[in-house]
Amino acid sequence: MPNDTTVHQSLGTPRGAALPAVGIDAVDVRFRTRKRDVTALSGVSLDVAMGEFVALVGPSGCGKSTLLKLVAGLLAPSTGEVRLQGEAVRGPRHDIGYVFQRAALLEWRSARRNILLQAEMRKMPTAQARARADQLIGMTGLQGFEDAYPHELSGGMQQRVALCRALLHEPPVLLMDEPFGALDALTREQMNVELHRIWRDTGTTVLLVTHSIAEAVYLADRVVVMSPRPGTIREIIDVGLPAERDYAETMARPEFAEATAHIRGLLGTAAAGD
Ligand SMILES: Nc1ncnc2c1ncn2[C@@H]1O[C@H](COP(=O)(O)OP(=O)(O)O)[C@@H](O)[C@H]1O
Ligand SMILES: [Mg+2]
Repeated sequence: MPNDTTVHQSLGTPRGAALPAVGIDAVDVRFRTRKRDVTALSGVSLDVAMGEFVALVGPSGCGKSTLLKLVAGLLAPSTGEVRLQGEAVRGPRHDIGYVFQRAALLEWRSARRNILLQAEMRKMPTAQARARADQLIGMTGLQGFEDAYPHELSGGMQQRVALCRALLHEPPVLLMDEPFGALDALTREQMNVELHRIWRDTGTTVLLVTHSIAEAVYLADRVVVMSPRPGTIREIIDVGLPAERDYAETMARPEFAEATAHIRGLLGTAAAGD
């Protein structure tokens, strides 16, 4: 690989880190079922820099979740390759965090013990895991609710617990599949603000799938717009917003309006051609 000396604008990209956190190289995914063959992804290539925040948007069924599963090693590409920091993904990866639309918490465990589940599964040293859990509970504003059970928590709080659980082992890469899709609009905005802050504090590389164009533009360095199935990358938009993103102030910026209008146009055209 040639030594890339361009200055990375993405926040948190360490100097001289030539290897992308995530490298997706000419990937196709074909599913064969008894009834039909489905090409979910076709010719998808994408490099995500260390510490970068990339959002994926696209019509339903275009392969967004499939793409995240490839990165997590839960699915193998039919052709092409996926690499994490240069290393080919050959099976389920333990060094990533994954957050889904449903928090999927264990009902019989408190918030804290749901978060610590990650440590038990990974056999992390107890003291270290507890300290990290406390830190994340503070970061996500869950103090006072550590001992509450999932049914005692709002949807937003449940997702905070899921986020803490996903970040407990300090994964270099965090995958989020429509994590706020089930939340009301106001809670979702709050979660966007918190996620932005947590991302900046942790320096984790994030790949976020979302149906909300505003969420994608507010949070991401770059937004990947996908075409209808078979999913291809239609365009990658550099949102060009400053790293410091006050919510209201960001929404009012011309760059924000420009990026969202452009993405909406791309998705509208894509839908029309479906
Ligand atoms: N395990 C599977 N077997 C067969 N088809 C699948 C499987 N997983 C996904 N697909 C198909 O692949 C396409 C992309 O799915 P998915 O990645 O879930 O889309 P998205 O997340 O963008 O809505 C869809 O047409 C879906 O039906
Ligand atoms: Mg999906």
